Amino acid sequence: MAGLRVGVVGATGMVGRVLLERLSRSRFPVGKLLPFSSGRRKVSVPFRGKRVAAPAISRSALESCDLVFLVSSDEVSLEYGRSLAKKGVWVIDDSSAFRMAADVPLIIPEVNEDALRRNKRLIAGPNCTTAGLAVALKPLHDKAGLKRLRMASYQAVSGAGREALFEFFSQLKKSARVVNGSNPLPRLPALQAAAFPKPIAMSVLPHIGPFDANEDSKEELKVRREMRKLFGLKKLEVSTTAVRVPVIRGHSLAVWIETKKSMSPAAARRVLQKAAGVKLWKTGAYPTPDIHGTGDPTHVARVRRSGTNPRELSLWIVSDNLLKGAALNSIQIAEVLRKRGWLTPRGKGGA
Ligand SMILES: NC(=O)c1ccc[n+]([C@@H]2O[C@H](COP(=O)([O-])OP(=O)(O)OC[C@H]3O[C@@H](n4cnc5c(N)ncnc54)[C@H](OP(=O)(O)O)[C@@H]3O)[C@@H](O)[C@H]2O)c1
Repeated sequence: MAGLRVGVVGATGMVGRVLLERLSRSRFPVGKLLPFSSGRRKVSVPFRGKRVAAPAISRSALESCDLVFLVSSDEVSLEYGRSLAKKGVWVIDDSSAFRMAADVPLIIPEVNEDALRRNKRLIAGPNCTTAGLAVALKPLHDKAGLKRLRMASYQAVSGAGREALFEFFSQLKKSARVVNGSNPLPRLPALQAAAFPKPIAMSVLPHIGPFDANEDSKEELKVRREMRKLFGLKKLEVSTTAVRVPVIRGHSLAVWIETKKSMSPAAARRVLQKAAGVKLWKTGAYPTPDIHGTGDPTHVARVRRSGTNPRELSLWIVSDNLLKGAALNSIQIAEVLRKRGWLTPRGKGGA
């Protein structure tokens, strides 16, 4: 098969870099790569041993693609998502612009691959927290029926993009000057914060996105709505607290689920052991986030009976926000489209 023309909008960002790195190492048939950035700087990105220029978006170049990954911002996705799909381009969008649109499939291949449609060329990927959560909970839902979900998420700074990370690094550098081993309670310098409402270095912020009238943050609402859409459970009870933590990469979740049918921790472990995309940890061991990433699987550990409800299980889940939370999930969706024979070169070039 001739190679595909593949556009990546946001190729220089956190997700874009990881996506290109993964595509580069894969056998995905990229005939021509068209990466784009904001165009504010002259930049190029590495791909399969070469450097490829990443200029500002060109609509005509994007329209010539077979597949476009949108990994930039809600605004850019809103401007290009639907119009590209109308022109026959397959569009996989990692922003939150279309996730809840009734006519746009929200897809995690391990969870709801069947929701893909040949005539729906605009496809949304989930929020980076929802991704790992849904992969871990789907097999348990299939077995026992998910009724109620409670969760606290501990979310890495890279989930907020490159500029937030740079701000975090500069706060760390400033703080490190006074944390020198001579005073156990040093007086920290005043830290500037623009990416988040308060400095994130040496702190935790229970505030990801704006609060609504109920004081739920936007991130918390995204998880609730996306879980309901992904699982087709309109009334799923979801209560979450999303916390930004001073971690570079990897989201961690403390999760409590109540199921319709009773399920013992041992039964849950048996299900998770065989589940697609899940790595179940041995009893007593647990995963932690890692600056180098935690790889493809969603890590699950500490599966135990909760202390308050015999129907409730408690789990610890860690997944890579940049991989399964965005880039990897999008590439997996593209692989499914190819496997089904829906994503093919449209005859405008290629290798
Ligand atoms: N980070 C995560 O863990 C994660 C997980 C799931 C989904 N997402 C979503 O994925 C998207 C990208 O996130 P990110 O963390 O990678 O953000 P990021 O690090 O801030 O990168 C943003 C990218 O978008 C480009 N860009 C900005 N304005 C543009 C414009 N007007 N035209 C074209 N390109 C433009 C930037 O180019 P320059 O280099 O030129 O500035 C950069 O390549 C967002 O929608 C985010 O919500 C992120």
